[in-house]
Amino acid sequence: MERDAMKAAAALAAVDEVTSGMVLGLGTGSTAAHAVREIGERLAAGRIEDVAGIPTSLATEELARELGIPLLEPGAAAIDLAIDGADEIAPDLALTKGGGGALLREKVIAASAARFVVISDDSKMVAALGATFDIPLEVAQFGLGITATALRGLGSPQLRTAGEAPVVTDNGNYIIDLAVDPIRDAAAFDAELHMIPGVLATGLFVGIAAAAYVAGSSGIRRIEAGAPA
Ligand code: A5P
Repeated sequence: MERDAMKAAAALAAVDEVTSGMVLGLGTGSTAAHAVREIGERLAAGRIEDVAGIPTSLATEELARELGIPLLEPGAAAIDLAIDGADEIAPDLALTKGGGGALLREKVIAASAARFVVISDDSKMVAALGATFDIPLEVAQFGLGITATALRGLGSPQLRTAGEAPVVTDNGNYIIDLAVDPIRDAAAFDAELHMIPGVLATGLFVGIAAAAYVAGSSGIRRIEAGAPA
């Protein structure tokens, strides 16, 4: 199975958790887009009814609108289930997210959902976060140099750019990608990052995912948080 087919398979498996009447957190990225499309198709076909979504980015909002998925403002209703992709998945389901730059909204939605499930192909499974992917941080534009200097104590910060210009998030902030050694204690490292005043959100999602659907060449594995490895 090729990578995109694996992403789609993982997404479909997670969407099987969606039932009529649910409020859904809609993730961002190529894997999450498969889930959003599947939700739209199931709604259009009448397989599920009365479902509403809260998107984690302007891009996902646009996709959901095209598909006719009813949308709610964040905070308008409790989120039953959020589904999103990831850049790295550790054995305890701690995640690195934010490759697509939507980490702040993704974390607000995932952390508030009654259940958050992550979907991925098996290339994202790692022994320790930071091993294969720099940690995305959403930072304030104000004082960027000060924030970057403070981050140098924890890794190697790189401002994310598109061409010459810094990438600006949906919230009007910048992204710093922090190259680090493999992280031993993701919760402690996340707390250290949050001590730096210009850091608004980190791409470390620790203790948030309840389950992961991971697709590989031999099929789909569902991993529940807390289950023995
Ligand atoms: C978006 O900001 C990210 O957190 C994505 O969920 C993550 O980068 C995974 O993206 P893909 O599904 O496109 O690999």
